[in-house]
Amino acid sequence: RRCHAIVPAAGVGKRMGAAIPKQYLPLAGRPVLEHTLACLLAEPRIAGIVVALGAEDAWWPTLQLGDRRRITRVEGGAERADSVMNALRALDGVADAEDWVLVHDAARPCLPRADLERLFCELADDPVGGLLAAPVRDTMKRAGDGPRVAATVDRSGLWHALTPQMFRFALLREALAAALAARVAITDEASAIEWFGLQPRLVEGSAANLKITRPEDLRLAEFFLTLP
Ligand code: CTP
Ligand code: MG
Repeated sequence: RRCHAIVPAAGVGKRMGAAIPKQYLPLAGRPVLEHTLACLLAEPRIAGIVVALGAEDAWWPTLQLGDRRRITRVEGGAERADSVMNALRALDGVADAEDWVLVHDAARPCLPRADLERLFCELADDPVGGLLAAPVRDTMKRAGDGPRVAATVDRSGLWHALTPQMFRFALLREALAAALAARVAITDEASAIEWFGLQPRLVEGSAANLKITRPEDLRLAEFFLTLP
């Protein structure tokens, strides 16, 4: 069984508020996306990577990736799920039904090797697939209409969904296509699988695997990337 990676990198980074998309901002001397792709390219179990890029992307050709033969590019879509769907279509005729597809956000450049390893190990014999996730640490509040607490949400059993998320190709392709056709809000691959009636496996990952979202996240990411 082979593994194909998909990297959605077609976002504009609205919350970052920078002049260019956040996946191209410099981080420890290299663009964010170079770190993300380097981590996946270093994994011998990954046969190839499909990267979904924005239609207006002028920065992709400037990346230093070394050998680009394992990388294919497709155009992204309006939402993250549309970008992933376009990448899945590019795997038709390439991936077998039972092959793994590993989806990892371009904006998560600090994925620890040990987390990727744990994902592969814990999902090895899994019929469905699963995701890296981190247990929620803080007490959770639900707001009412205004800025006042309506309720405290029981934190036990709550996890932050991270990426990579890894599922069987045919299953993910069918679930995501059906969820998009039904106009269900899909924010990660696992939610498409859940909507399809299956239960993705939770694999504990590290908080170092943050998603670069706001300006202050760059310094935190730099800290994790430069740890000895
Ligand atoms: N993404 C994508 N296609 C989209 C939207 C997002 O491929 N239409 C990608 C982003 O490039 C990012 C990942 O999905 O790597 C996670 O999305 P997010 O962190 O929300 O990135 P942006 O959408 O770019 O940021 P924002 O929501 O602040 O605009
Ligand atoms: Mg977004």
